[in-house]
Amino acid sequence: MAMNLMEVYKAYELSVEGTCGGMAMCASCQCYVTSETPLPEMGTDEDMMLVEAFHIEDNSRLGYQIPITPELERLEVTLAPE
Ligand code: FES
Repeated sequence: MAMNLMEVYKAYELSVEGTCGGMAMCASCQCYVTSETPLPEMGTDEDMMLVEAFHIEDNSRLGYQIPITPELERLEVTLAPE
């Protein structure tokens, strides 16, 4: 369906604002990756947004930057606090 992780959060009505709609301007789709699942490299926009965001951890990623693919099977994430 060409969705990203942020869109999955929203489809399941999880408490994620996704305020900027994935424009790397809010970090409200931040999550903590808790599995060893290989993910796409972090892009410059995502990296720059996370530098400015709150509640950052070493395993922080922005959900909009994680496209849903079969390789993500068994991916585990925890949503960051709002
Ligand atoms: S929704 Fe704004 S950066 Fe993710």
